Amino acid sequence: MATTTAFDQASPAQAPAVKVAILGFGTVGSAVARILCDQPSHSPLRLTHVFNRNVGRKQVDWLSTEVQWSSDIEKILSSDADVIVELVGGIDPAHEWISRALRAGKSVVTANKKLIAQHGPQLSALACEHGGTISFGASVAGGVPVVDALQEGLAGDQLYKVCGILNGTCNYILTKVEREGVSFDSALIEAQHAGFAEADPTDDVDGYDARAKLVILSRIGLKAIVQPEQIPCTSIRSLSAIDFIYSHELGCTIRQISRAERRDGNIYASVQPALVPIESPMAHITGSLNLVLSSGKYGGQTAFSGHGAGGHSTAVAVVSDLLDIARGRSGDNARSQISADVLPVSGNFASEHYLRFTVRDRPGIVAAIANTLAAHRINIDALLQKPGFDKDALPFVVTLEQCPTKQLEAAMLEISKLDFLVHAPLTMPILTKEL
Ligand SMILES: NC(=O)c1ccc[n+]([C@@H]2O[C@H](COP(=O)([O-])OP(=O)(O)OC[C@H]3O[C@@H](n4cnc5c(N)ncnc54)[C@H](OP(=O)(O)O)[C@@H]3O)[C@@H](O)[C@H]2O)c1
Repeated sequence: MATTTAFDQASPAQAPAVKVAILGFGTVGSAVARILCDQPSHSPLRLTHVFNRNVGRKQVDWLSTEVQWSSDIEKILSSDADVIVELVGGIDPAHEWISRALRAGKSVVTANKKLIAQHGPQLSALACEHGGTISFGASVAGGVPVVDALQEGLAGDQLYKVCGILNGTCNYILTKVEREGVSFDSALIEAQHAGFAEADPTDDVDGYDARAKLVILSRIGLKAIVQPEQIPCTSIRSLSAIDFIYSHELGCTIRQISRAERRDGNIYASVQPALVPIESPMAHITGSLNLVLSSGKYGGQTAFSGHGAGGHSTAVAVVSDLLDIARGRSGDNARSQISADVLPVSGNFASEHYLRFTVRDRPGIVAAIANTLAAHRINIDALLQKPGFDKDALPFVVTLEQCPTKQLEAAMLEISKLDFLVHAPLTMPILTKEL
């Protein structure tokens, strides 16, 4: 059912401004405020409130004196603001505040991937129930308008696969290890100094941030409701420069790849480091850039790339969502109604694999590994060993012919108990050019 608003019906000259309240005046919140105060005079958006804890220390002199600053959330939620822009982050109290704003009939714009991945379907239903909207274009790939593109621009296709490089921090670290041959730890420290990694990098390097984004892409692109915990997630922490040396020999490089595929009534999904062919689009994404590839039954593959994070690029996505609301495109709250199915989720992709072992050298090591793999009906494709390494910590690589992840996991469980291993073996899929 379509509901019209005052600004739908009026001509642009008469339209009342959409009143905007920002919750959270941090990196993205302050960048949104900057863009809003730099809008042309006929802009339909008017910033009326800024909320933050201890707001006094946040106050700036470049915003209109008409903007009300507050640390009292009750004052904001009961104000006449039409749209609440949530840029506080995290699950609580953002979840409660957004729910209350929607129940009060306000619309919400958020960049909060964690919250949307966990509670997106319920919040969209709440928005529909109360005649508002919830937009989250900034929650995936920052300034790259991929949420809008999958939801609107490619709505005519039946998308069956989305995959991409969704975490700029991981990509920055991996390309630094690749180019400079440094260890993971020193690349992480440099990323932290350069402002590309948080003091606590867990969400980024262990894959949880990318996984939240993949959940959102699965919902809007593949029309499948998936819980974050259902998607297997592998950290990039155990990668080292030697893995790039071996992967280059195989005509590949390594990226943190998030992929989800809708097939035979299931969703296959994972977030993990993977080998990608040097000539693939994924290999060309370096530094903190993001890339999303969508595959559709009719339209084939479409690529979206750009800055996936940063105050300004993320703020652009937030303001675009606000303008969308002001233009009334979201006026009938149709965009909050994303019909999606709950499907079984599996991480059991079939692919070739790269295994890197670090061992205390002695006779019989390769035979022990080969025998265990053979017992699990897994064929070895090649063995790569560079000379010149210490015999007490000798790295070598085994590549495997295509096999399902589950089959390999069972074999690796046995192999990881072998006494010559210096540390746990590293396994990665080797993806094809088509991914
Ligand atoms: N930064 C990016 O590049 C980026 C990209 C895409 C999406 N996002 C998302 O955008 C959102 C905001 O990120 P951000 O980088 O702008 O974070 P941020 O710089 O940490 O800003 C968050 C702001 O919210 C305030 N805040 C936090 N908890 C609060 C509470 N309980 N009550 C009142 N105020 C509170 C913080 O105040 P204090 O200063 O007191 O801590 C801070 O000013 C997150 O959901 C994030 O995932 C960010």
